[in-house]
Amino acid sequence: MQYRHLVDFNDITVSQWNALYRLGTDIMRSPEEYSDSCKGKVLATLFYEPSTRTMLSFQTAMLKLGGSVIGFDSPANSSVAKGENLKDTITIVSTYADIIAMRNPREGAALAASLYSSCPVINAGDGGHFHPTQTLTDLMTITMEKGGLSGLTIGLCGDLKHGRTVHSLLRALTVLGKNTYYLVSTLNLKVPRYILEELQASGNTVYEIASLDECIGELDILYMTRIQKERFQSEDLYKKESGKYVLTPAKLLYAKKDLAVLHPLPRVDEISSEVDFDSRALYFRQAENGMYIRMALILTMLKNGRFRPDIFGFTETDGAMRCPNPVCVTNTEKYLPALTYEINGPRPGHACKYCDFRID
Ligand code: NCD
Repeated sequence: MQYRHLVDFNDITVSQWNALYRLGTDIMRSPEEYSDSCKGKVLATLFYEPSTRTMLSFQTAMLKLGGSVIGFDSPANSSVAKGENLKDTITIVSTYADIIAMRNPREGAALAASLYSSCPVINAGDGGHFHPTQTLTDLMTITMEKGGLSGLTIGLCGDLKHGRTVHSLLRALTVLGKNTYYLVSTLNLKVPRYILEELQASGNTVYEIASLDECIGELDILYMTRIQKERFQSEDLYKKESGKYVLTPAKLLYAKKDLAVLHPLPRVDEISSEVDFDSRALYFRQAENGMYIRMALILTMLKNGRFRPDIFGFTETDGAMRCPNPVCVTNTEKYLPALTYEINGPRPGHACKYCDFRID
C-alpha cells in the first residue's frame, strides 16, 4: 500500500487489494507464522462512538501479531471530556503509538485526524460517511465465496443513506469490479448521490428499487444493513423508517441456492434469527474474516513507518471552510484547513474534501 493513511478507497488499486487479500488469507491459514511480526509496536484504538466488532477485532489483530494496544472506547474516558480538540489528541497519541484506528461521529474526522498524525491513521468509521475496514472484511468474504469481485448481481438493502459500510463498499467496488446493483431502500434512505454517480460512471448497471422481493431471486450477494438510529434527528423519524425490510426464511425461498447473505452487524431486526441456520447466512464468518484482513492491513501500513504530519503542507483557517453539512467535522474543529475538490461530469461544482458534501 503506498498511501500513508486509510481514510477511504479513493486511491486503492487492484494490485493493492490483491496483495492485501493474499496476505489476509495467508495469515488465516497459518497465523502462528505472524505471531511476532509486530513485536514492540503499539496500536491506539481511539473510539469516540460505540463499537464491538471493529474495536475488538483491531485489538485482537494487533495482539495476535505480537504488538500491544492502548486507547479509549468512549470520549468520556479521554481528555475530550475536558474539551480537548481532535488535533491535539492526535498529535500526542501519534507520538505514543505506531498506528491509530479511530472511530468518530463526525463526517470527515478521519481525514482531519490524518493531517495531524505522525503515524498511519485508519478510519474505523467517520459518522455516516465511510468505514473502509468493514469493506475489507466484506471484500474478503465476497472473494472467498464467489472467487472474485466482478460479474455479480449484488443487492444492498436498508439504510443506504447513513450506512457508512455501504458507501465504502460501493466506492471500493467501483474500482475493483463491474457488477449489477440493486439498491433497495425507502425514498428517504437512498444512497447519497455522489456514491450513485460514481457507481454509474464506472460502467455498472444500477437499479434503485423499494422492494426486496423484486430482486431477491436474481442476487448472488445480499448485503443487509441496519437502519442507523443514531443518525436520525428524532426517534419518530427513525420509527417511520424501521421495520420495513426483514429477511426471513420465507423470503429466502425465492433466492438462489448459492446466495451469500452478508451484514456488517450489529443486526437489529432486519434479519430474523431463524435465518442464522441457513447455509447462505455468512455474516458471522464475515465478522471473523475481519480480524485476519485487519491483521494484513496493520502489517502493510506499518511498513510506512513514521513521518512528518501532512498538515505542514496546508494552512490552518478559522472557520473558513463553511461546509453546509451540519455533521461535518469542520463545523466543530474550526481550525481545519479549507479543503475542497472539483466535481466534474453532468452536475459540475465543488464538494467538501472532508465529508464529500456538495458545497455549490
Ligand atoms: C457498522 C458500523 O459501525 O458502521 N458496524 C460495524 O462496524 N461492523 C454497521 C452498523 O453499525 O450498522
